[in-house]
Amino acid sequence: MSKLTESKEWQALAKHQKEIAKRPVRQLFADDPQRFKRFSCRFNDILFDYSKNHIDSTTTELLVKLAHATGLGEEIEAMYNGEPINNTENRAVLHIALRNRSNRPIKVNGRDVMHDVNLELAKMRHFADVVRSGEWRGYSGKKITNVVNIGIGGSDLGPKMVRHALKPYTRPDIRCHFVSNMDPTDMMNTLRGLNPETTLFLVASKSFTTPETITNAETAKEWLLKTAQERRAVSKHFVAMSTNLAAVKQFGIDPENMFEFWDWVGGRYSLWSAVGLSIAIGLGMDRFEELLEGAHEVDEHFRNTPFDQNIPVLMGLLGIWNNNFFDSHGHAVMPYDQNLDIFPRFLQQLDMESNGKSVDKNGNPVDYATGPIIWGEAGTNGQHAFFQLLHQGTQLAPCDFLVAAVNHNEVHSRHEKLLANFLAQPEAMMRGKDREQVIDELHASGMKDPDEILVQSKIFPGNRPNSTFVYDKLTAKTLGSLIAFYEHKVFTQGTIWNINSFDQMGVELGKQLANAILPELKNGEIIHPHDSSTQALIEEIVERRQTLI
Ligand code: F6P
Repeated sequence: MSKLTESKEWQALAKHQKEIAKRPVRQLFADDPQRFKRFSCRFNDILFDYSKNHIDSTTTELLVKLAHATGLGEEIEAMYNGEPINNTENRAVLHIALRNRSNRPIKVNGRDVMHDVNLELAKMRHFADVVRSGEWRGYSGKKITNVVNIGIGGSDLGPKMVRHALKPYTRPDIRCHFVSNMDPTDMMNTLRGLNPETTLFLVASKSFTTPETITNAETAKEWLLKTAQERRAVSKHFVAMSTNLAAVKQFGIDPENMFEFWDWVGGRYSLWSAVGLSIAIGLGMDRFEELLEGAHEVDEHFRNTPFDQNIPVLMGLLGIWNNNFFDSHGHAVMPYDQNLDIFPRFLQQLDMESNGKSVDKNGNPVDYATGPIIWGEAGTNGQHAFFQLLHQGTQLAPCDFLVAAVNHNEVHSRHEKLLANFLAQPEAMMRGKDREQVIDELHASGMKDPDEILVQSKIFPGNRPNSTFVYDKLTAKTLGSLIAFYEHKVFTQGTIWNINSFDQMGVELGKQLANAILPELKNGEIIHPHDSSTQALIEEIVERRQTLI
């Protein structure tokens, strides 16, 4: 057994789980009129209600003890102090510096990074302003009307999610597109209908070596030059956001048009850096700074609030409780907010790339479950797709529900209908429906002697753990806070599981093999040893392409 599962805190939780599992959550509500108050927190306009999880006061006490015993407080300090907590890459982890609105010095190797952060923010402000005002012109003297962000993973999902979430605040005359996929259809579908004279490409890549991004950027450059005819046009239509100046230059982007960030910004944490340029252009830099402010306030809360009142810590601990002690599978995130429909996808990368690990920080295999599979869908769509499993399936999947009290589109009483659904689903998941209720309902519907098969199929077990967030309206500041809650939740869990949440070695093998297979597809000659399935697939695809193209 590992140190973690052997610890007295872990063992105490395991023992407590056996006891509390016997008491349904609806019973816990009935026994404690203060339950909602006891298990909810407020942060600015955000209410976090976690009372529908299978917990009582002993659970939170024991979980907080686990957090202390695993050194969460010390690890938070290490992050804020710029220590190299990404131990496999020997890097600091400082997305908190990108939104450090207090401007308090944050040092990496003795050097305050805030100077560079502020310079880049000022450069972003200037650039966003000149594009928005129309001062920045394309090669033929026309204003920019379309911005295309080329990037993948964190260089795509973060800015895309934020742009989408804050659509009500964006300028309709500068449209923004996101291209990420290696599939050329992504780029070709986007370019169709765009005019090279009025299109600006933002090439976002921390490494500037990611094949998808470089390939898409090459295609975009070719498309521009076909019309512009002169290479000088590139400097009017291409900017880069990267840590790799040499590669940016080599690609042919003017270093003047490069926005810098640093190796202590993880890809999935980069929307707060220059990678957020598409956000700043669409929303204006003031709104981008509101987003930073919302996250910064959470950073302060995370660092300074006792764990039993600390929202991201509680989120992390509840995840551990469900995952490791109730053996739950996956974690669903359901924003009842159409503009947040990309949020679950963004969280997939944030959480799964960070905590999808099976060796600990000392290189030992773990003997406990780590990061869950994250998925989700904007409400109410999920209700008509996968909620069946959430209510009655054999796998327990905890859920987060998010909603705004006020919709950006208050059309008749439609938002109330959405809110009714938002409220009903968590209640149904927690409460369930027992045999007696089912029979009463069937009797009331006129069925005197209901069939037992029908009765059984209508029973809901309940006890499905879930948490809810309610906020006033989805503003830039609120969104910044929500994202930061999830970022620090992932940090909390990674720390307790003793894994490095900040590398992503698991994405490398597939990349290596793709590099090896590419020449084999080109000339149809197998160079590397493969299993018989892969070899046959290569041969078949080569043959089909030779006949079909
Ligand atoms: O391959 C995974 C990954 O490295 C992600 O972590 C990252 O967000 C994405 O690829 C893109 O990387 P880059 O910004 O260097 O192009």
